[in-house]
Amino acid sequence: MPRQIVLASRPSGWPTPANFTLTEAGRPELADGQVRVRNLFMSVDPYMRGRMNDVKSYVPPFQLGEPLEGGAVGTVIETRSPDLAEGDLVLHVLGWRDEAVLPARHAQKLPPVEGLSASAFLGVLGMPALTAYVGLFDMAAMKAGDVVFVSAAAGAVGSMAGQFAKLKGASRVIGSAGSEDKVRWLREIGFDAAFSYRTAPVLAQLRDAAPDGIDVYFDNVGADHLDAALITLNNYGRVAMCGAIAHYNATEPAAGPSSLNLVISRRLTLRGFIVSDHWDRLPAMTADVTAWLREGKLQHAETVVDGLENAPAAFIDLLRGGNTGKMLVRI
Ligand SMILES: NC(=O)c1ccc[n+]([C@@H]2O[C@H](COP(=O)([O-])OP(=O)(O)OC[C@H]3O[C@@H](n4cnc5c(N)ncnc54)[C@H](OP(=O)(O)O)[C@@H]3O)[C@@H](O)[C@H]2O)c1
Repeated sequence: MPRQIVLASRPSGWPTPANFTLTEAGRPELADGQVRVRNLFMSVDPYMRGRMNDVKSYVPPFQLGEPLEGGAVGTVIETRSPDLAEGDLVLHVLGWRDEAVLPARHAQKLPPVEGLSASAFLGVLGMPALTAYVGLFDMAAMKAGDVVFVSAAAGAVGSMAGQFAKLKGASRVIGSAGSEDKVRWLREIGFDAAFSYRTAPVLAQLRDAAPDGIDVYFDNVGADHLDAALITLNNYGRVAMCGAIAHYNATEPAAGPSSLNLVISRRLTLRGFIVSDHWDRLPAMTADVTAWLREGKLQHAETVVDGLENAPAAFIDLLRGGNTGKMLVRI
């Protein structure tokens, strides 16, 4: 019988395995227009932590006792739609389960991509890469010659943002991450400088890495990273406010950045965005990324955890920094 992961209770602070239950899902008959998909890979993402809280946001909260949702790729194994055939590879949002039943119009048929795993559509050719692309080029208006700082730089979004910046002519790209191994990897994939925020304060390390200041900050973290970036930004600097992972498991409201007044004197722009408002940019991102991959100019890493039953552990590990590149579960 196919299985699914259900939200058993809402986490308070850090999630634990007890917040999740593995249950049997049943195998309902398909209605007209529906397909059954055998999931191959599912994504675990930081935004899912927010959906575990019972609060109104840009996506509705997960419901207690209901299966979780999220990006997944799989193969159509049964169809009652003329639009999808058995064997088609599709992208959809019913992860956290062995099999998904959904209207064919909610599944996006994926092209075969030479030399890449189907999981690429959850990472280097998917939502995280689009987030990096839109954040860097549309929100932060990065241009050739800019000095760019990226936090959570060894993650799915950050590793793309840093490399995209370099590929589009940034003069210097600096990344921060949570371990020396990640710092080494960032240098290998082309970051000009990288540091671990665990070894010394962010501000001191950022100043060392960017003696002439920074022009763009791609913020995945918030907190001390955002404050250090504000202090280091040059006049007319731009910040893509992408994520604030340092805050996601906090049980108390976090203190605001103490240097927000610099936004005025330095004429800074801070711009928040949600990637799902920007699907129109997918063709441009896909064209650039496929070309860069073909030319061997773009590196991408995946951290793959095996087994649906291990998806909760993979999710918790993602929040702790257990991943390099995109965190995925192979089902
Ligand atoms: N705005 C949007 O539409 C959008 C879309 C997708 C993602 N996002 C945001 O983008 C960010 C990255 O997402 P992702 O999917 O690429 O995840 P990811 O970076 O692959 O994984 C999360 C990473 O965050 C780092 N982290 C955790 N706690 C931290 C802390 N207190 N301080 C600094 N770093 C910490 C960990 O790496 P270390 O080992 O380096 O700590 C971890 O690997 C998240 O904030 C996410 O919410 C936003």
